Amino acid sequence: SVQPVVMAGGSGTRLWPLSRGQYPKQFLTLSGEHSLFQQALLRLHNLEGPGLSLSAPLVVGSDDHRFLMQDQVIAASLGAPTLLLEPVGRNTAAALTLAALQAGSDGSDPVLVVSPADQTVTDPGAFASALRRAVEWAARGVIVVIGVKPQRPETGFGYIRLDTSDAHSRVAEFVEKPDAETATRYVDSGDYFWNAGLFVVRASDWLRAIESFRPDIAAATHAAWAARRVDGPFIRPDRALFEVIPAESVDYAVMEKCPKSDIDIRMVGLDAGWSDLGAWDAVWQLGHKDGAGNVSDGDAIIEDCRDTLVHATSRLVSVVGVDNVVVVETPDAILVADRGRSQDVRKIVSRLEGGG
Ligand code: GDD
Ligand code: MG
Repeated sequence: SVQPVVMAGGSGTRLWPLSRGQYPKQFLTLSGEHSLFQQALLRLHNLEGPGLSLSAPLVVGSDDHRFLMQDQVIAASLGAPTLLLEPVGRNTAAALTLAALQAGSDGSDPVLVVSPADQTVTDPGAFASALRRAVEWAARGVIVVIGVKPQRPETGFGYIRLDTSDAHSRVAEFVEKPDAETATRYVDSGDYFWNAGLFVVRASDWLRAIESFRPDIAAATHAAWAARRVDGPFIRPDRALFEVIPAESVDYAVMEKCPKSDIDIRMVGLDAGWSDLGAWDAVWQLGHKDGAGNVSDGDAIIEDCRDTLVHATSRLVSVVGVDNVVVVETPDAILVADRGRSQDVRKIVSRLEGGG
């Protein structure tokens, strides 16, 4: 059977001040009736159908958010999840390794369908058919990444180039977070896809890949998981052993290296209105715009502005005569930013945390 996995341990700092340490963006309902985390779970739930049965979801996230995650899974009528709780974030390579160890601990070797918790999709049907195709490939021992046609030279994503001599979408190159110049070249060339951050892989194939490229991460995560404590649905790897795991993302630790090795890595294309709600600019991109391109949420008055985002949560916010600005109001903090500098909001959070 197929094991849905949602990685929900990110801190979402670029959506500050709405996204906070105790309540990061993936648990916020930014549009519609479900949080981004619930939307991710529901999209995976949708894969079920003839010939494809799903296990109960496996959620990998922070111990601090255990009740938030549990409540949101239950509220979305998604049954009883297993929650792998990290004492500290050690990035996604460790998170996925934990999930693979847990999913295979009953002696089975399920295909893991791994989703981030910070995305939206406008066409769930197209999403489900792409992911089903990916599951078929992964069941044959292939690592599958999901590719989206790029729309702008975004530097926050991974880029995938296919081997054009291969009829089955073999990945020739995977580059995580290129600089702006490289990203522009990739997008202009028309040869690259964005990595959607979704991975489909058999548990044993993931473990083999991480062991071959990052034996240090594999061994440290295995040790922490082996010393786990189980408390009902909550599974806690050993804190001291977990803290020493090198923090690296799946993309740097494994995906970039696969095309240069004999590991079979392929891409399935996704055309389903995918977006990553990484920063405020993405919230503006997705929002419902007035005649001048402004997006507002809450009690907002916008006068003579263009392409501006106003998000008010507790007070009236009025904005006059500015273009390409982001204003986010919360009871205890207000952000005013150039929309084009949305990525730099993380610098504010790092200053608040004492990081300079
Ligand atoms: N459990 C756990 N533990 N989850 C984590 C951790 C962690 O330490 N760190 C991040 N996550 C979760 C986040 O909550 C998010 O759902 C997902 O893993 C991806 O992490 P991001 O930090 O959002 O990654 P990214 O957006 O910079 O880059 C990834 O996604 C892009 C597409 O959205 C990469 O895969 C890129 O290649 C990709 O283009
Ligand atoms: Mg992301």
